[in-house]
Amino acid sequence: MKYKNFITIEGIDGSGKSTYVPVLKQMFEDLGYNVIITREPGGTPYAEELRKRILNEKMPLSQEVELAFLARKDHLEKLIKPALEDEKTIVISDRYTDSTYAYQGVASGYPSEKIDEFVISHQNDIWPALTLIFSVPVEVSQQRLNKTGKIPDKFESKDPEFFLKCIDGYNEQIKKDPERCKFVDSSKTSEQTTEQVKELLKDFVEQNLLVRKKTRQP
Ligand code: TYD
Repeated sequence: MKYKNFITIEGIDGSGKSTYVPVLKQMFEDLGYNVIITREPGGTPYAEELRKRILNEKMPLSQEVELAFLARKDHLEKLIKPALEDEKTIVISDRYTDSTYAYQGVASGYPSEKIDEFVISHQNDIWPALTLIFSVPVEVSQQRLNKTGKIPDKFESKDPEFFLKCIDGYNEQIKKDPERCKFVDSSKTSEQTTEQVKELLKDFVEQNLLVRKKTRQP
C-alpha cells in the first residue's frame, strides 16, 4: 500500500541526498502542508538506539537486517503511521526500505526474497508514493565523504566496490517500481540538482496531491 503523503530519499553515502531535505520541506510548506522530517535507521528513541548498533557494531548480516526492520516497525507504529493519518501532513524520511535492499541485499548478499518477507511481517507493506534516489559515481561520493572530515561509520568505511553494488541495488529498485522510484543525478552542481528535485516534485504534486495554497493571515 502506497501513501501519497509519504516520501523517502535514498542514495549511497556521499550522494548528497540530505542536502535537499530543506528544499523538499520548503516546497511542501509553500503548498500549505505540515512537514515531518525523519530518518532511518531511527526516528524514534528505540529506533535511534538500534541505529547506533547497526552503524557501529560488527554483527551477522541476518542480525543487521532484523535490527533494521525492528527499528522500521517502531518508526512506522509510533511516528510514520500516526502522521500519515493527517492528509495535511507530509512525512519525508531520509532512507527507508530501499536502503535495506541496496545495502544488506545487493551489496552484502542478503537474499532479496527474505527482505520481501520482512516487508510484509514488519513493515505491513507500507510504502511511500515517491522515492527520490540521488545518484553519483562512486569516485564523487568518496571525495565528498573524505571532505566531511567526519569519522566514518561501518558503512561509510566500506570500499568503492561495496558502493558500486549499492548503486546496482538502487537501480534494481527503480526497475521494480519506476512509478515510485525516481532517479536524480546529483553529480552536478547543487543548483542543477535542486532544479531536478523541483521538477520531480512538481510532477508528483500535480499527479497525486491536491494543491493547498498557503492562506495569508490578514
Ligand atoms: P546516512 O543516512 O547516510 O546518515 P548520515 O548522513 O548521518 O551518515 O547513514 C545511514 C547508514 O545506514 C547508511 O550507511 C546506510 C545504512 N542503512 C542500511 O545499511 N540499511 C538500512 O536499512 C538503512 C535504513 C540504512
